[in-house]
Amino acid sequence: MQIVKYQFQQHGDNRGQLVSLEECVDIPFKIKRVYYMYDTAGGVSRGFHAHKTLEQILICIHGSCKILLDNGAEKKVVYLEKPYEGLYVPNNMWREMYDFSEDAVLMCLASEVYNESDYIRNYEEFLMFLEEQEKKA
Ligand code: TYD
Repeated sequence: MQIVKYQFQQHGDNRGQLVSLEECVDIPFKIKRVYYMYDTAGGVSRGFHAHKTLEQILICIHGSCKILLDNGAEKKVVYLEKPYEGLYVPNNMWREMYDFSEDAVLMCLASEVYNESDYIRNYEEFLMFLEEQEKKA
């Protein structure tokens, strides 16, 4: 499994840093939704789902957290701790987010508006969905 982690351009000077993200330039899709998680309680894991079509970029703009990515055949853990790093999460990818630092703010840029029917929240269903996709290909 190839992990795609973007290193965004930092416009830094003696006042500090600034990162600018443009859809279809720095982000590989049109951004239809932004959401973020913060005040995550200690020991909490989130996610536990995949998406049929949604693509996302995850940026831990403050603090740190870990993201487990699972394509049904392989699992990888990515540590996010830099506000200028973005993890690309394609569709058909199971994800779990955990080990949030107390101050973590995890921002997600999404290619689609919220749509519950795009979610696969059961791991067995996720594996079955992948099998169906392979048969169709
Ligand atoms: P949920 O999907 O459970 O988050 P996670 O997978 O990270 O644990 O979402 C939590 C709640 O927020 C749930 O009631 C749905 C709602 N929600 C929205 O209304 N819009 C959104 O864009 C997202 C991501 C969630």
